[in-house]
Amino acid sequence: MKVALLPGDCIGPELAASAVRVLGELAPDLELEEHLFGAASIRATGTPLPDETLTACKQADAVLKGPIGDPEFDAADVRPEQGLLGLRADLGVYANLRPARAEGIDVLVVRELVGGIYYGAHGVREDGSAFDTCEYHPSEIERIARRAFELARSRRGRLISVDKANVLETSRLWRRVVREVAVDYAAVDVEDMLVDNAAMQLATTPAQFDVIVTENMFGDILSDLAAAVTGGLGLAPSASLADEGPGLFEPVHGSAPDIAGKGIANPAAMLRSVALMLEHAFGRSDEAAALEAAVDHALGEAPTPDLGGDGTTVSFTDAVVASLTAPAATRTL
Ligand code: NAD
Ligand code: IPM
Ligand code: MN
Repeated sequence: MKVALLPGDCIGPELAASAVRVLGELAPDLELEEHLFGAASIRATGTPLPDETLTACKQADAVLKGPIGDPEFDAADVRPEQGLLGLRADLGVYANLRPARAEGIDVLVVRELVGGIYYGAHGVREDGSAFDTCEYHPSEIERIARRAFELARSRRGRLISVDKANVLETSRLWRRVVREVAVDYAAVDVEDMLVDNAAMQLATTPAQFDVIVTENMFGDILSDLAAAVTGGLGLAPSASLADEGPGLFEPVHGSAPDIAGKGIANPAAMLRSVALMLEHAFGRSDEAAALEAAVDHALGEAPTPDLGGDGTTVSFTDAVVASLTAPAATRTL
C-alpha cells in the first residue's frame, strides 16, 4: 500500500505535513514516499516532473499531491504547472471529481481532465500572435460522460452537461456524444446548459445541481465557483481517476503564495482529498468517513482565517487528530 507524496509549493508543504500527521494516526500501514515535483523540483533538477517522480507515481497505489505553482516561475519557459499537466496525462486520470457540499447544497463537478484546450496544439507565431486549440475525440467525451452518468445514477439521478454549443464545434460534438450515452442511463435525468448560464445558476441557486459534467477548462472555472458557494477554496478536495492505475488526489485550490509560510493555510481541502484517496484508491470507506467527520468537527473547533476564525494549520490538524482518537461516544457529541 504505497502512496507517492508530492508536497507541492508555497502552502503545499504545510498542508502535506498535516496530511502526513493525520495518515499516521488513521492509516499507519500506508507507506508514504515523498518525491520532487513542481517549483521545488525545477530549482533542484531544472524540470517540474523528473523521470524518477513519474516512475514512482506510476508504481504507487495512489498519488497524494499538495498544490504547486510559484510566482517566481509565472513568466518562465519551464513552469510548475507543466509538470502537473504532464503527470495527469501520463497517469491517464481523465475523470476529475470535485465535490462541493454545504447546508442544502451537494454538487459534484465531473471535469474532463486530460483533453481540450489544455492539451491541444498551441504556440506563438512569428507575427507575435498566440494560439491554443480546443480539440476532443468522441471517445474522450464518451468515457467522461459514462463516468458522470454512473455517478449521477448513484446519487440523485440528475446530470447537467455544461458546454458552449452555441459557439464551439467541440461543444456541439460534446452534446451529441452525451445524448448517445444517455440512452444507456434511462434513470438519469440529463439536461444541457450553456456555460455562462451555468455559472450564473451556480452562483444564485446552487442547490438545484446534483452532478455537472463538463470539459477541462469549463470544469476548472466552475469548480472554483462551486467551492466559493459552499464555503471557499480552502474546503474543496478532488480525486482524479483513470480506468486503471493510481489515482491522483489533490485540493482544488492553488499554492496560495499570499499566505505561504504564515501557518494559516486551511488544510481541510487537503485532508478531504486524503479521505477521497482512502475511499477511491484503497476502498477504506470507514476510515474515509471518520476523516470526513473529523474535518467537519475541526471546522467548528479551529476554523482558519479564510473561514473567519483564528485557527492555524497546526491547531486545525490538532482538532482533526483529537477527534479521530477520541472515543466514539465523545466523537458524536
Ligand atoms: P489559489 O487557489 O492559490 O489562491 C486563491 C485565493 O484563495 C488566495 O487568496 C489564497 O490565499 C486562498 N486560498 C487558497 N487555498 C487556501 C487554503 N488552503 N487556505 C486558505 N486560503 C486559501 O489561486 P491563485 O492565487 O490563482 O494561484 C496561485 C498558484 O497556484 C498559481 O501558480 C497557480 O498556477 C497554482 N495553482 C495550482 C493548483 C494545483 O496544484 N492543483 C490549483 C490552482 C492553482
Ligand atoms: C486546478 C489548477 C490547474 C488546472 C493548473 C494549476 C494547471 O487550476 O487543478 O484547478 O488548471 O487544472
Ligand atoms: Mn483551478
